[in-house]
Amino acid sequence: MAKITTAVLQKMKQQADKITMLTAYDASFAKLFAEQGVDVLLIGDSLGMVLQGHSDTLPVTVADITYHTKSVRAGAPDAFVIADLPFMSYATPEQAMQSVTPLMQAGANMVKLEGGDFLLPTIQALTERGVPVCGHLGLTPQSVHIFGGYKVQGKTDAAADAMLAQAKALQDAGAQLLVLECIPTPLARRITEALRIPVIGIGAGNVTDGQVLVMHDLLGISSGYIPKFSKNYLAQTGEIRSAIAAYVSEVKSQVFPGTEHSFN
Ligand code: KIV
Repeated sequence: MAKITTAVLQKMKQQADKITMLTAYDASFAKLFAEQGVDVLLIGDSLGMVLQGHSDTLPVTVADITYHTKSVRAGAPDAFVIADLPFMSYATPEQAMQSVTPLMQAGANMVKLEGGDFLLPTIQALTERGVPVCGHLGLTPQSVHIFGGYKVQGKTDAAADAMLAQAKALQDAGAQLLVLECIPTPLARRITEALRIPVIGIGAGNVTDGQVLVMHDLLGISSGYIPKFSKNYLAQTGEIRSAIAAYVSEVKSQVFPGTEHSFN
């Protein structure tokens, strides 16, 4: 398999070759995911919930993400790795530049940050300094207290138009990838078709250029609330390697996500 780069991801969008992404936090799973052909590994700040046991992602620190990025990089030396910038670690462009340094030095190929217009100067500053950026719109978990819970975003015409405008602005500022979380499928289609850069969905239907899931949801080992958009592939296959292979195959063939995992 060709080594994944931002140029390869761009080409995959153009060729309608669906991009597979999974969260990974340690070397063993990172190695296994890479062996099963997962295109992109994300050290998500979801680790605050699935590893640390918090009820949201807000307690996660840059040091936490740095530690897990080092582990993932050790397990998957050739993988394309994205590291999340945690809550309040990129409130200003200056702070973002400080926060990305240990993440890139730990082996990340790209950083992901949540939000819209306020991030435009930050994205420009990072990309000008050689740090590739992935945006994240829709249900951005670091803003859970603004949203009043984990709710589908972009449901009204005005909210949908605003999200499309923000997606274009992130791209124009230099973002090279975009995650859309928990939005109606028709809006995900509009944004995916309007952007040059690849769009990765989670709870955004099968119309985006790729999919991402939290590995604990895919393996059915998350406790508490299980999101409608996730699928337990371990229950379906009974073995971890086969579960990952099934996820990759179902994303590539657009079987996953089905309408039962999507919002309209
Ligand atoms: O933190 C995370 O795992 C994420 C994904 C759910 C996209 O941001």
